[in-house]
Amino acid sequence: MNSLVSLYSSSIGKKIVMALTGLFLCLFLVEHLAGNLLLFANDNGHLYEEYSRILVSNPIIRAIEIVLFLSLAAHAVSGLVLWVQNRRARPQKYREFRLDENTELAARITMLGGSIVFLFLVIHLSSFFFPLRVTGTQMTAYELVREKFSNPWFSVFYVFALVILGYHLKHGFQSAFQTFGLVHKRYRRLLDVVAFFFWFVIPAGFASIPVYFYFFVRVSTSPLV
Ligand code: HEM
Repeated sequence: MNSLVSLYSSSIGKKIVMALTGLFLCLFLVEHLAGNLLLFANDNGHLYEEYSRILVSNPIIRAIEIVLFLSLAAHAVSGLVLWVQNRRARPQKYREFRLDENTELAARITMLGGSIVFLFLVIHLSSFFFPLRVTGTQMTAYELVREKFSNPWFSVFYVFALVILGYHLKHGFQSAFQTFGLVHKRYRRLLDVVAFFFWFVIPAGFASIPVYFYFFVRVSTSPLV
């Protein structure tokens, strides 16, 4: 136990926690996107409702959700602590701001990206998770998604946040490969393909949902349309 605590207090310990929780969160994204693609079924949300019902009623999935929220918290806290420690360790300012040479600028951009993803998650959970699971709503999950994405500002914010998520995942995969020493030429190509799937295909898949809803399914009664 003591050795685990002292490993976590080192910077490599926090990087390992970030890489492992980040990989777990990526697996969640695959499952979440697969489920959300049912929104395209063109059946007025029947399949999507069925999927939501299974999510809520299955105790294994509820338990995995707790691990998911703990992973999110561990990932965000470790990232923040690492960033503060790095800043303290390197107080002098750089004169030139070149991203390839200036790791402080790269770290700042990553921190900003991570903060935008965090803000996105707060807005996302309060728009969908809380009304559906905590406070309660008359709407079905499908109707809620349709109503939210009928608002152009909400849809544009989603697409913007998903571009930032893509950038964050791209950098995150590079850091995770470094943390685990996966830099050998032999696996490099395979890992780049896996990383591309996560940083490009997954966010693009999510971004297609607000775009599709806004242009093809939106409710015309929305005040901002
Ligand atoms: C843009 C397309 C997306 C749609 C339509 C969508 C929809 C939803 C809905 C309806 C819920 C509530 C499900 C329920 O509890 O019954 C939910 C939950 C959640 N979403 Fe999303 N989501 C999208 C993208 C994302 C992205 C990109 C992330 C992460 C970066 C994310 C993370 C979460 C998390 C952590 C939860 C709570 C856990 C859960 O209920 O599974 N979502 N989402």
